Amino acid sequence: MIALEAFAKVNRSLVVLGRRPDGYHEIDTLFQTIDLTDDLRLDEDERLTLSIAGSTLPTDDRNLVLRAARALSERAGGDRGARLHLSKRIPVGAGLGGGSADAAATLLGLNALWRLGLTTEELRPVAAAIGSDVAFFLYGGRARGTGRGERIEPLPDPPDESLVLLLPPFGMATPEVYRALEAGPAPDPLPPRGDSSAMPDRNDLEGAAERLRPELPSFRSALVAHGAVSARLSGSGSTVYGLFRSQREARAAAAALEGREGARALATRTLSRAEWRRRASPAAGNEPEAVKP
Ligand code: C5P
Repeated sequence: MIALEAFAKVNRSLVVLGRRPDGYHEIDTLFQTIDLTDDLRLDEDERLTLSIAGSTLPTDDRNLVLRAARALSERAGGDRGARLHLSKRIPVGAGLGGGSADAAATLLGLNALWRLGLTTEELRPVAAAIGSDVAFFLYGGRARGTGRGERIEPLPDPPDESLVLLLPPFGMATPEVYRALEAGPAPDPLPPRGDSSAMPDRNDLEGAAERLRPELPSFRSALVAHGAVSARLSGSGSTVYGLFRSQREARAAAAALEGREGARALATRTLSRAEWRRRASPAAGNEPEAVKP
């Protein structure tokens, strides 16, 4: 038995550089692991099966966990099985990368369960074929993503950040937001390309998401009104997150914002790469408590 945690992310910035011939968009983004997790448990079995608690997500091949498992099984050159159980906490359609995090955790977990011994570099192309931001979840911490978002450059950990996630009572579909971006006004001029420390604090998908969901700006202003230093959409939404000066301020704001316009408010914090690695690494044993800090 193997148990591990799959961590959500926020995009601290996301610049869309243009549309590519293959329909994807060239982006330059800063990913950041946050302390919000799904739990994945993997047991040896002949057949490959998935069960899910805490969500009505499909348990068939539409699920990224099963897609990741099949892709790794193929990469390992065999028809392998495992019994996978996912406990969902990361909201779906929220721009927090929950499905991608689960897929990456599946790759890390099965790599251990099946004793494949693949390195992160060897898992990377398998991850990238599943979805544009799956590769990031093999690295954790803070990282720059370019290309479709699948080219990952791990970055040094910034100082810990305190955040409030405001989760509107609706999700957003990434392809729809990119389509709205194409249909909308031309984006701001591109920033000069350079090292990621020069990345602007912006999310180019925000305007498009706000055209689809005109209620989003009010979530942003609510965070600022409750003390956020800044507030941004994460990925293609629907989560809007605010940065706070301390955990104490973040917790107070989350308590005040909970339930506002049907939204959930969660205080959380960023995770360093070392902390992520410790908690996201497959821990073998019979007691799932063994992987908890
Ligand atoms: O790669 P993934 O399956 O996560 O992407 C979902 C959809 O989001 C793509 O089909 C595409 O419409 C859009 N997308 C994009 N540019 C990216 C990433 C995603 O246009 N860099």
